[in-house]
Amino acid sequence: MSGHEENEYTDSFVGAMEMVWGDGFLSPGGKDEIALFLEGLDVSGKEILDVGCGVGGCDVVLVRDFGAAHVHGIDIEQPLLQRCVERAEREGLSERLSYEKVNPGPFPLPNSSFDVVFSKDAMIHIEDKHSLFAEVFRVLRPGGVFLASDWMRRDEEPPGPETRRWLDIVGLTFGMHSPPFYIDALETAGFVNCSTMDRNEFLISVLQADYSLITGEGREEFIRRTGEEARHYIDIWHAALRAAEVGELRPGHLRAFKP
Ligand SMILES: C[S@@+](CC[C@H](N)C(=O)[O-])C[C@H]1O[C@@H](n2cnc3c(N)ncnc32)[C@H](O)[C@@H]1O
Repeated sequence: MSGHEENEYTDSFVGAMEMVWGDGFLSPGGKDEIALFLEGLDVSGKEILDVGCGVGGCDVVLVRDFGAAHVHGIDIEQPLLQRCVERAEREGLSERLSYEKVNPGPFPLPNSSFDVVFSKDAMIHIEDKHSLFAEVFRVLRPGGVFLASDWMRRDEEPPGPETRRWLDIVGLTFGMHSPPFYIDALETAGFVNCSTMDRNEFLISVLQADYSLITGEGREEFIRRTGEEARHYIDIWHAALRAAEVGELRPGHLRAFKP
């Protein structure tokens, strides 16, 4: 289950993402997007594992707005986890939020220890979905649910020029796959009632708005936050937008149940 190397999410890249996606978020949509992928499921009082917690914005939402009893966030980047700990303290939520640095690979967590495994736009970094979902299955309690969103690909074909350009400049290690590949990995792990929901249109609208902001009225603030990297990040946003517009970059929500 190898994944990306430590320190791909530099301070300036985090600054760029937080400017467009909100304080604490390294992925788009914030609380509304989380509400959508939790729709119909009650996580209040539940113990949740967040795989790839980033800088912790999702975890605050899960306990503060959706009533989770506790969220344990794991990530491979220590500087991001430090920000999570500080955020939990600022929010007065340190007793309900805990964090752990992990290495790519099997989770250092006991069997059947969570009611819910949550992950937002992080599994894209982990190439071996079959090993990953076997681990998710192992740490879930029987009757538990796996709720995630991820940036998937349309299919398993080689990427076209727009997607290739994004992959070449984004500076992150990805192991992207298509929704059917994810479903196969989930079912192979033992999950039932596995589903995906496409969010391509949502991503296009978000990236269009982001791009307008960082090249328009927010340009000065973006440059202030990201310094000499600003031009490069603007190129990354444009490349991601094109990959989404041609239909190859297809984020989606995933849901699966452990019997
Ligand atoms: C796009 S960010 C999303 C962060 C957060 N979930 C959010 O939505 O704001 C992806 C995160 O996955 C983490 N990550 C990458 N590979 C990982 C692995 N093998 N295990 C756990 N986290 C990983 C990265 O360090 C990064 O924080």
